[in-house]
Amino acid sequence: MNVMVVGGGGREHAIIKKIKKSPKVSRIYALPGNGGIAADAVCVDIGATDLEGIVKFARENAIDFAVVAPDDPLVLGLVDLLKAEGIPCFGPEKKAAIIEGSKAFAKDLMKKYGIPTAAYETFDDMEKALAYLQTCRVPVVIKADGLALGKGVIIAETLDEAQQAVRNMMEDKVFGESGSRVVIEEFLTGPEVSVLSFTDGKTLIPMVSSMDHKRALDGDKGLNTGGMGTIAPNPYYTEEIAKRCEEEIFKPTMEAMNKEGRTFCGCLYFGLMITDDGPKVIEYNCRFGDPETQVVLPLLESDLFDIFLHVSEGTLDQAEVKFADDAACCVVMASSGYPVKYEKGFAIHIPQEVEDVYVAGAKLSADGRLLTNGGRVLGVTERGKDIREAIERAYQSVKKISFENAFYRRDIGQRALAALEK
Ligand code: AMP
Ligand code: GLY
Repeated sequence: MNVMVVGGGGREHAIIKKIKKSPKVSRIYALPGNGGIAADAVCVDIGATDLEGIVKFARENAIDFAVVAPDDPLVLGLVDLLKAEGIPCFGPEKKAAIIEGSKAFAKDLMKKYGIPTAAYETFDDMEKALAYLQTCRVPVVIKADGLALGKGVIIAETLDEAQQAVRNMMEDKVFGESGSRVVIEEFLTGPEVSVLSFTDGKTLIPMVSSMDHKRALDGDKGLNTGGMGTIAPNPYYTEEIAKRCEEEIFKPTMEAMNKEGRTFCGCLYFGLMITDDGPKVIEYNCRFGDPETQVVLPLLESDLFDIFLHVSEGTLDQAEVKFADDAACCVVMASSGYPVKYEKGFAIHIPQEVEDVYVAGAKLSADGRLLTNGGRVLGVTERGKDIREAIERAYQSVKKISFENAFYRRDIGQRALAALEK
């Protein structure tokens, strides 16, 4: 089959490397892909939000199946357009992608169906939002309603900061229209767990749990980023917690979406916090997480493309979904200065022996050299019999890769290790 993967980051590289192994897949196109993905797929220079361009490409290139990986094209309705052309897809339709596209929608859904989450209020009116803040305890969490490149969440430590965040979003529109509506939410504490799941609206199969590291610097300091590294499984996600999540969160969410006439087909991502009152939803994503995918998929033993087909056909109950019981760690190597200001264009050296490299921000030069071209440049994943071994191996591999101005966190997985030793 001719398969098209929309997107061009480390997550898409991980998806492509996995489906490439399927006997059913003959050719893979990546739109737009990147310089590293070019080693595993045919990259086509069409951006992930150029919906018209993507549909035209699919029509003209006999695409048999599409995987839409990033949030923006999903929220904009790319899957609806492709399905209208008769192209089966992995990814939710627009009406279901709203679970990530609008935080207010997600919060209202949870309230209506009794799914545990932080207490909140939604505001379209800035004065009302500011007045409400006067009644809140700090820290308090301010969220722009729409997509904001993962930056629309502010944890305000003081009332002043909270008011400033609301003004920035609602008056100065720092996140554009995404911030015309804000959610003000209770601050929760506890370890965070990411659980990605496959669902066709009838069956939901959670994948192995993982832990992201969102802050730029060691010790969870510095600015929020797209994710600096991941480990799987997440030791905080015990069997008991998993059972509660399945009963109180996963299944109820799938059913709630069905009841709303918004059946979700694709990868539903649960961002969870394990609080003293049990697991609560911090956020839903309508797609694979990045860089969670870079540790979760390497542990998948089954044929990923086969699972995609089953999800799109509504027969997920017949799919084989099996994960290895060892562990994985992904360390992201970024450009120094990320997520603010950084230089690009440095040559990247990756020795052959390092296999699981997922390239996020790189391009090929005219003479075929791989050059840095983004903040997050690549992720290196290694497996081990347990998290400790996976972490050690990942850092050994990181040391073999070089580019000028490379920077990475040295403590990916350390908090998880400490939790295991408790
Ligand atoms: P998001 O962009 O929704 O993934 O949120 C970014 C990060 O903000 C999350 O990973 C959490 O660490 C934090 N966060 C979001 N909501 C809350 C909350 N209600 N309480 C505490 N931390 C939160
Ligand atoms: N790693 C978090 C996300 O993909 O949103």
